[in-house]
Amino acid sequence: MAAIGQSMRRSALGLAIFAVITAGPIAVTQVLTEERIVQQVRKAEAAALFEIIPESRHDNDLLSDTVPLQPEPLLGLRKPAQAWIAREDGKPVGIILPVVARNGYSGDIRLLVGVDTRGEILGVRVTSHRETPGLGDRIELRKSDWIKSFNGRSLGNPEREDWAVAKDNGVFDQFTGATITPRAVVQAVRDALIYFRENRQSLLDHRSTDTERSLANGN
Ligand SMILES: Cc1cc2nc3c(=O)[nH]c(=O)nc-3n(C[C@H](O)[C@H](O)[C@H](O)COP(=O)(O)O)c2cc1C
Repeated sequence: MAAIGQSMRRSALGLAIFAVITAGPIAVTQVLTEERIVQQVRKAEAAALFEIIPESRHDNDLLSDTVPLQPEPLLGLRKPAQAWIAREDGKPVGIILPVVARNGYSGDIRLLVGVDTRGEILGVRVTSHRETPGLGDRIELRKSDWIKSFNGRSLGNPEREDWAVAKDNGVFDQFTGATITPRAVVQAVRDALIYFRENRQSLLDHRSTDTERSLANGN
């Protein structure tokens, strides 16, 4: 009996030591991975920002000219975020809004939606998603040109009820066998335009503070 008890204690001790030894490296790997993901998202975002509003169209430091945003249902934001303002000779020429489409097939689809000062779309890019390869991933520019179908669109073009995929009687194509993903993106882009229209003045009038600039640069 005593031998069994001793053996059990030894096993328990062994397990405890094993747990301590393995938990440390796992926690460290997790932190490093999360940090790497954040950096990759930032990199993808920076590349997308300059695709949406190329450097030839503005002369300010786009990456640090930011406007803080509070959690906002029309943008799908659960957490505070920031928008980026492009300026030429100090005057705003456009703004890029972070948008989360929350009703995709497989979780959040993160987008950047660029509009000019009149609310006309300069470009939309997907910065992260988990939609199915071969079905929903045609929202990515490297998979198809579909995302470019938003260029030049605005709230009156098309009319509000036509801001939908063809299957819902709208003007935007869906994909073969995949309607859920493009439907979510179309709705999210339309809602971003509504948000811009409702907040246009305060967004475009904003002048970023030193703290905001430093936060935008990841410091
Ligand atoms: C394994 C699997 C993965 C799918 N992935 C997607 C996807 O990423 N995006 C999407 O829109 N539909 C996807 N679909 C198809 C949807 O379930 C749905 O049938 C399709 O979007 C058409 O929707 P609708 O019937 O509302 O038009 C997937 C289906 C299966 C079985």
